[in-house]
Amino acid sequence: MLAVEDLTQREAEAELAALAAEIAAHDRAYHQNDAPTVSDAEYDALRRRNEAIEARFPKLVRSDSPSRRVGAPVAAGFEKVVHAKPMLSLGNAFSAEDVREFLARIRRFLNLPEAEPLEIVAEPKIDGLSVSLRYEQGRLVQGATRGDGAAGENVTANLRTLDDIPTEIRAGEVPAVFEVRGEVYMSRADFAALNVRQQERGGKIFANPRNAAAGSLRQLDAGITAQRPLRMFAYAWGEVSRLPVKSQGEFLELLRSWGFRTNPLVVVCTGADALLAHYAAMESQRATLDYDIDGMVYKVNRLDWQERLGFVSRAPRWAIAHKFSAERAETVLNRIDIQVGRTGVLTPVAHLEPVTVGGVVVSRATLHNEDEIARKDVREGDRVIVQRAGDVIPQVVEVVLEKRPAGSRPFVFPEVCPECGSQAVREEGEVARRCTGGLICPAQAVERLRHFVSRDAFDIEGLGGKHIEAFWKDGLIKTPADIFRLPGRTEEIAEREGWGEQSVRNLVRALGERRTIALERLIYALGIPQVGRATARLLARHYGTFERWRAAMTAARDTDSEVYRDLINIDGIGPGMVGDILAFFAEQHNGEVLDDLVGTKETEKKEWQLTVEPFQAPAVQASPIAGKTVVFTGTLETMTRGEAKARAEALGAKVAGSVSKNTDYVVVGADAGSKARKAEELGVATLSEADWRALIG
Ligand code: IVH
Repeated sequence: MLAVEDLTQREAEAELAALAAEIAAHDRAYHQNDAPTVSDAEYDALRRRNEAIEARFPKLVRSDSPSRRVGAPVAAGFEKVVHAKPMLSLGNAFSAEDVREFLARIRRFLNLPEAEPLEIVAEPKIDGLSVSLRYEQGRLVQGATRGDGAAGENVTANLRTLDDIPTEIRAGEVPAVFEVRGEVYMSRADFAALNVRQQERGGKIFANPRNAAAGSLRQLDAGITAQRPLRMFAYAWGEVSRLPVKSQGEFLELLRSWGFRTNPLVVVCTGADALLAHYAAMESQRATLDYDIDGMVYKVNRLDWQERLGFVSRAPRWAIAHKFSAERAETVLNRIDIQVGRTGVLTPVAHLEPVTVGGVVVSRATLHNEDEIARKDVREGDRVIVQRAGDVIPQVVEVVLEKRPAGSRPFVFPEVCPECGSQAVREEGEVARRCTGGLICPAQAVERLRHFVSRDAFDIEGLGGKHIEAFWKDGLIKTPADIFRLPGRTEEIAEREGWGEQSVRNLVRALGERRTIALERLIYALGIPQVGRATARLLARHYGTFERWRAAMTAARDTDSEVYRDLINIDGIGPGMVGDILAFFAEQHNGEVLDDLVGTKETEKKEWQLTVEPFQAPAVQASPIAGKTVVFTGTLETMTRGEAKARAEALGAKVAGSVSKNTDYVVVGADAGSKARKAEELGVATLSEADWRALIG
């Protein structure tokens, strides 16, 4: 980071903008989500830097500067939106009886003759959160949550980030006002992946896809929503100046033709028996769907009949929700085990008395992390409620406290790794406790070794993840250095199935080629949590040589030191990463692994030990795209995405994954989707592949 005295006006301006955003984000995390993401000291440092820059450039003080805000900021929420038409709820049917009565009531109300068929649309009841989208002259002008039905929250910016929501309806004649309603949800697979990411970076763990969807949509920073895989099924309308259809079935078709997603499992049934048979079929199919549904919604198909039926209190007479039985059950929690994952995260797992939940026998459930156990006060021997949502790992929802056995004790979360005995630590602000054993922890070893030889790390020809796993199992390799000692064990390898003299010779040659390695690759290969390729490169560039880097990382353990400040000041390296890097170096075993791999000053270099090349800054040619931000989308014809990216970076451009107003160019290949649209919307220049090639020469 540049000293304040050395900043140019432009640099100061840019930094003040970044600081305002960063400090505001920390304020939100702290005040609204009760989840600070930085330490107090780090936060204070940001505010001091902001003040120092403002003192030197008083003209640049922003209207939203953190220094202008006094005390704690108000917990700004979302603006309220009164729905033009209230968002109603549905009456419930729990039994076949209730469903028959629902149909009979409608027939009575409409006075339908026996012979007159009554068509009912059966739609899955999506377990998400309902939203209302208001289009005026075909343009999305407002998006709101349901709230209490009368008024919700204005989440327009957030909803705009969903691929399933068109920002414009492109059709011949779109009614002047058209409100589309539907359910925002997260698929089970996306939910599970999100929780893994959250767990790894110590973020909030969501209890189920519904909570994850709600939490992701209700973000004050729409940028976060944009990174969450939210989807939407449209199924109803609110205020409309004209409704050019005569039935719910036609309405759904209209929505599809306008670019909305509607549920593919909607059917039209006539009569209670057909409805009930369909209900049974859906209930048994439920667990195989990629999203949660908690029942079926039945709607009278004909809109003129809906009109006549109208509403009773807050629910339509023409629709009802037929709920499924709960996917929950009560059982005994026999034992809590701690599992150690690939990145060393300690995850508590509940071993249960087997119980059937939603048709599947469950004997294990996740307890997520230390805080969750404490919050729910889950103890061994407790009776607990278990919940299952399809293929998602079952969860312990709560303890049945009334049935707690006498003499039970709170669960004590271990502070050492149960696999290797190393310290298991929690970094400030993180919920995950992590084993620091790194390369010596057997639970992490194989995955780490696989990572060590992966393509962006050592990339050893002929030595893939599968080989690593097999060699590890048979004790041929335990640590990274063992990989480079393999040439000393050629006879053993040659005897293995699938290996011959030639392939062993090739392996020895490949190992030889990789014994000289670029610093950034080595750093990346170590598999330090949160240190990906980009971070590894930043570190390599900053420290230049392996020796300097290692010495600095060791010295930075003293957080009062200059070396530590220098590390946290590297642009692009956050406090969380620094914590992980320092924890890695704090563990003695990791130091030993590095000594073994690279050697030490005191000992003579062994023939198989590595030579680490200092960082070499690429010579950046003067190029028309230097400093520009480029996004690639769609399929390129003359080069792969990887090549295109490498080329752009070599010419000094930044390659981003998503389009924002900071994007300079979007290169559009074949079958490009939402990114190309987004570029158009934001007025970002789009280039064809040919334009792009012409630009970069
Ligand atoms: S129709 C006036 N259709 O269920 C009727 N609702 O319990 C408005 N829901 O608040 C709702 N899937 O959040 C309708 N296919 C579907 C639905 C659905 C889920 C939710 C919606 C509503 C709640 C009512």
